[in-house]
Amino acid sequence: MANDKKLIIANWKMNLNMHEASLYLHKLSKLIKTHRNVEVVLAPTTLTLQSLSLQMNLKQFKLAAQNFYWRDFGPYTGEISASQLRGIIQYALVGHSERRHIFNENNKDIRNKVAAAIRNNIRPILCIGETAWEHASGETKDVLHDQLMGGLANITSEELEQVVIAYEPVWAISAGKDSTPINVIPADVEMAVNAVRSQIKHLFGEKAAENIQVLYGGSVTPDSVADYLALPGVNGLLVGGASLNANTFNGIIEKAHKNSTVAKKD
Ligand code: PGA
Repeated sequence: MANDKKLIIANWKMNLNMHEASLYLHKLSKLIKTHRNVEVVLAPTTLTLQSLSLQMNLKQFKLAAQNFYWRDFGPYTGEISASQLRGIIQYALVGHSERRHIFNENNKDIRNKVAAAIRNNIRPILCIGETAWEHASGETKDVLHDQLMGGLANITSEELEQVVIAYEPVWAISAGKDSTPINVIPADVEMAVNAVRSQIKHLFGEKAAENIQVLYGGSVTPDSVADYLALPGVNGLLVGGASLNANTFNGIIEKAHKNSTVAKKD
C-alpha cells in the first residue's frame, strides 16, 4: 500500500464552543507526541475553524470542515463554500450519515461537494455506510456500491488520489461522549472495506484501489482501535464521541501509533 500512515480524525459534530475548543487544542497539543506513522485531523464546528487554524501547529494536526456548500460563491444564505475555507482546512467530511439522514443530502449534493473540495485543494473524506435495516436485509454491499458510484461519479483517477473513504455503518454511530459503544465485528468491517476497494478497482483500476485510504468509523474507543487498525486495508479511524475528551483521543492516537509500528515489524 502506497500510504501506510494512519489517519486519525476527530469529528466533534455540534459540540464544543470557541472557548472549549481552544482549551481542548491547548491540552491535546501538550499531550500529543508527533508520530511519523500517524496523521491527526480535527473536525470542529465551522465557527471555530479559523481560530484553531491560527492557534495550531500543522506538524501536529490538520483541520477538517464537517460540511460546506459546493458552489464557490453566490446567493446562498447561511452557507459557506469550500473556496472560502481554502487555506484554512486541509480536509472536509462529505456525506456524513447525519448530513444524509437529518439534512437530506443526496448523491448529487455529495458528488458536487467531492468535486468542490478537490477543486479548492481540500481532501474530501467521503463517508458511506448502510443503515440498520439495510444491514439486516443483507444490502450492505449494494448500498456501498451506490454511495461510491454516486459520490465519485464526477471525478478522474488523478482527482481520486485526493479522496479518502470512511466506512461508517449508520447503526454503529454512537449518540455521543457517554453513550455505550456499539461494537461492530471486525470481520464485517473487513468485508465492507474489501467491497469498497473492489468497487474502486472496478471504477478506477487496480492501482487506485490499492492506494486509496479507507477509514473505519462508528463507536471507536481506545479499546477497539487495535481490532480495527489490524484489519488489512483499514488506513485509519473516524472518531466521534470518544474524540470529545482530549485524554481519550490522545489514547486513540497512541494506540494507532503502536498498532502501525507493530504491523510494520511483522
Ligand atoms: P462515533 O461517531 O464515534 O460517536 O460513533 C463517529 C462519526 O459519526 O463519525
